[in-house]
Amino acid sequence: MSEGLSLATSVRSHLGGELRSADVGSRVTLGGWVQRQRALGGIVFLDLRDRAGVIQVSFDPKFADADAIRMAGDVGRESVVLIEGEVVARPEGGRNAELATGDVEVKAVTMRVVGPAETPAIPVTLGKGESLPSEELRLRHRYLDLRRPELQANIVLRHRLMQVTRRHLSERGFLEIETPILTKPTPEGARDYLVPSRVSAGEFYALPQSPQLYKQLLMIAGFDRYFQIARCFRDEDLRADRQPEFTQIDIEASFIAAQDIYTLAEGLIAALWKEAGVTIPIPFPRMSYADAVEKYGTDRPDLRYGLELFDATEAFRGANFGITKGAIESGGRIRGLRIPGGAVLSRKQVDDLEALARGAGAAGMLRLKREKGELTGPPAKFLSPEQGAMLGIEEGELCLLVAAPDRVSSPALDRVRQEVAKVMKRVPEKTLSFLWVLDFPLFEKDATTGALGAVHHPFTSPHPDDVALLSSAPEKARAVAYDVVLNGTELGGGSIRIADPDVQRRMFNLLAIDDETAQQRFGFLLEGLRSGAPPHGGIALGFDRIAMLLSGATSLRDVIAFPKTTAARALFEGAPTPVAAEDLRDLHIRLEDEGTR
Ligand code: AMO
Repeated sequence: MSEGLSLATSVRSHLGGELRSADVGSRVTLGGWVQRQRALGGIVFLDLRDRAGVIQVSFDPKFADADAIRMAGDVGRESVVLIEGEVVARPEGGRNAELATGDVEVKAVTMRVVGPAETPAIPVTLGKGESLPSEELRLRHRYLDLRRPELQANIVLRHRLMQVTRRHLSERGFLEIETPILTKPTPEGARDYLVPSRVSAGEFYALPQSPQLYKQLLMIAGFDRYFQIARCFRDEDLRADRQPEFTQIDIEASFIAAQDIYTLAEGLIAALWKEAGVTIPIPFPRMSYADAVEKYGTDRPDLRYGLELFDATEAFRGANFGITKGAIESGGRIRGLRIPGGAVLSRKQVDDLEALARGAGAAGMLRLKREKGELTGPPAKFLSPEQGAMLGIEEGELCLLVAAPDRVSSPALDRVRQEVAKVMKRVPEKTLSFLWVLDFPLFEKDATTGALGAVHHPFTSPHPDDVALLSSAPEKARAVAYDVVLNGTELGGGSIRIADPDVQRRMFNLLAIDDETAQQRFGFLLEGLRSGAPPHGGIALGFDRIAMLLSGATSLRDVIAFPKTTAARALFEGAPTPVAAEDLRDLHIRLEDEGTR
């Protein structure tokens, strides 16, 4: 992973990991970590690791002083040493093709241990057959874990992606502007992290869930094109692709339409992938939210494999089968997927798929298959031959169906579809399938209370064709909102914003935020919108997610230097922590269980 750097200082002349045959004959002073040591025929060998890689250093009594040889024999793994010596070519049989430096070694003359290390709590390099210790242990000793070449490479790539982002956007007239971290709540659908104010008793700052309102105010202020590599804070349930604090490439522009944002984001994404050595075709295909949910059951479909959902309701209409009859009568549909070659799946495998559907909220899953021309499975006997034919199940296909309202069948079939693709090995791992999902609904309706919530955020513009629906059927209105999806992962999302203060107020009212509350929470935005607001919109790309995908990591924790666990804890520094009573008093805070502490 040599970056071709010259990091020469008065202490160290070269990076050992960068030494090559061209350096033979050079006198060098190296500094790094002792990765391994061994003695062979009176010569001590050290593998010395630095940021650029590993170099073999030999301590031969013919060249090295006696102290150096003794120290090299005694020095503990992971200690930091300074070594002076000469780069020599390795003899023909001694070359190591696995090391980038494998054609050369350094013949040491002197050595000093400048940073002795106690026995490392976790191994930095693994011996044959050794596996990584638990992630918890690795996070607790993160400074050691970060020495591993994989994590070093991820963090270096992350840095390069950041520089590409800055250069790409800056060259296109975007200004990098920082926005506050101590701020007011920004609604992005998660809980806020709150920070108590000492000087204003009983009042709290919120850490930003995103710079959303500030970037809109920057457009109103006339900066036209803004970006920020912005840290965002969301107190939500965590998963491998979510962190409580994470980084977005946050973008906003004025005098633009959605189309311009697509082009812009595609250009940036292509530049980021190029930095990782991958050329991607642009523009990306586009699909409406309605189509995505109908065909794949999700707003972030993985299009690397087919397995489109289909509607089997008509085939079951009139069939005297309790499950499908009940679902159709209560306004639901029969939806599912046909799996070519799926008839070979075992009963256990299909049971497991059904368990996933249940886990996602479905009451069960119906199965049918066609083998030797015959349609079999529990619902088959309720279907006439014509009805059976309407299902379009081909020879060797398995058909899985969920009879339910769409809000139940969509997530269940999405889950099943993804798992089927995995089980049937239908996922072409190398394919990159980017997709824009457009025209999200403006609102989502709470299933129990019927209250409307914003699907994206409350500043998202209604679709121009659907403005009239705001009065008659707001839940049917679409938004000018879009997500960019890669292989089933949401990379980013954005929208064209409401630039008209009256529409913004109406939007708040529909979200049950009355004028007074709107004024109190978002008065600064409403005033801004009344002071001359250009049409504007933007997008935010999940930077950690991009770094994760490009480094081949499977967890955001592998691309963030100091990540949190899924319980939102920082393990090695130990946060969050209890606070001394007098500190809480200064902040005007009393804990509920104070008496019991
Ligand atoms: P949104 O909430 O969709 O939009 O976030 C944009 C992108 O940020 C990433 N992301 C996360 N990454 C890691 N951990 C998390 N907890 C997390 N949450 C979100 C995702 C997501 O697509 N202000 C709007 C953008 C806009 O309208 O311009 C916003 O924040 O990749």
